[in-house]
Amino acid sequence: MTDPGRSCLVVGSSDGIGRRVVERMVADGWTVTGISRSPADSLGDRHHHHVLDVRAADYRAALAAVCDQRGPFDVAVYCAGVGDLLELDDLAAQRAAFEVNLLGAVDTFGVLYPAWRARRAGHFVVLSSLADKLLGPRSPGYNASKAAVSSYFESLALAVRGDGIAITNLRFGFVDTKLAKSPLRPFMLTRDRAARTVARVIARRPIRRSTPLPMVALCAALGLILQCRALLG
Ligand SMILES: NC(=O)c1ccc[n+]([C@@H]2O[C@H](COP(=O)([O-])OP(=O)(O)OC[C@H]3O[C@@H](n4cnc5c(N)ncnc54)[C@H](OP(=O)(O)O)[C@@H]3O)[C@@H](O)[C@H]2O)c1
Repeated sequence: MTDPGRSCLVVGSSDGIGRRVVERMVADGWTVTGISRSPADSLGDRHHHHVLDVRAADYRAALAAVCDQRGPFDVAVYCAGVGDLLELDDLAAQRAAFEVNLLGAVDTFGVLYPAWRARRAGHFVVLSSLADKLLGPRSPGYNASKAAVSSYFESLALAVRGDGIAITNLRFGFVDTKLAKSPLRPFMLTRDRAARTVARVIARRPIRRSTPLPMVALCAALGLILQCRALLG
């Protein structure tokens, strides 16, 4: 990932995978601008942080102002995410999953796209999940938001590649952060390993990357079982 002078935007950068991505990229010589609702400790001259909420009504305008001040960005990594367990008495958290995981990413790309099209360059990495193929009662908003993220951005990747722009849909299994709430977390990745994978997709620009492989196989099998169960009622 060493490429001095390159500039990256990380949305969802105060904690978890996003924070580790910021630390790694700054250490590797990138200039990094982070966005989240919380402030973040400074990592030096090549690190900037802006407190923004991707759910806010003025998010697009605020992000455009950040782009004017800190851009142009060569790469953007969308790490903002929420994933609460289902509480049937209060479905607001299920709605929030769509707003943060899906619509925040759609809006972020929408703001970046015109400048990238004009430059005929740009790479958008969005963090989806292997849960995008799972039906299940525990967190339907999370799973459905990730299904939409994967479908939307892989389709969009095909639409914009003629403009010289890459989109990568990065599908993780479990990563060791506060978002991983399941009591069982097989094949869980460290944040370091997740950030290394982000670095690798930035270098290679695939449309889809799914990892780790044993978890990909497990989710594929589980997805099939859950689909059959839904079909059979
Ligand atoms: N951890 C896993 O097991 C796992 C597995 C597969 C995929 N993923 C995906 O990886 C991504 C990162 O997850 P993580 O595990 O790193 O979660 P995390 O540790 O909870 O971090 C989430 C980040 O998103 C930011 N964020 C949340 N709501 C926001 C909002 N409304 N506006 C701006 N920023 C917001 C948070 O900062 P503030 O709270 O300061 O806003 C934080 O920096 C998510 O898309 C997640 O679905 C995670």
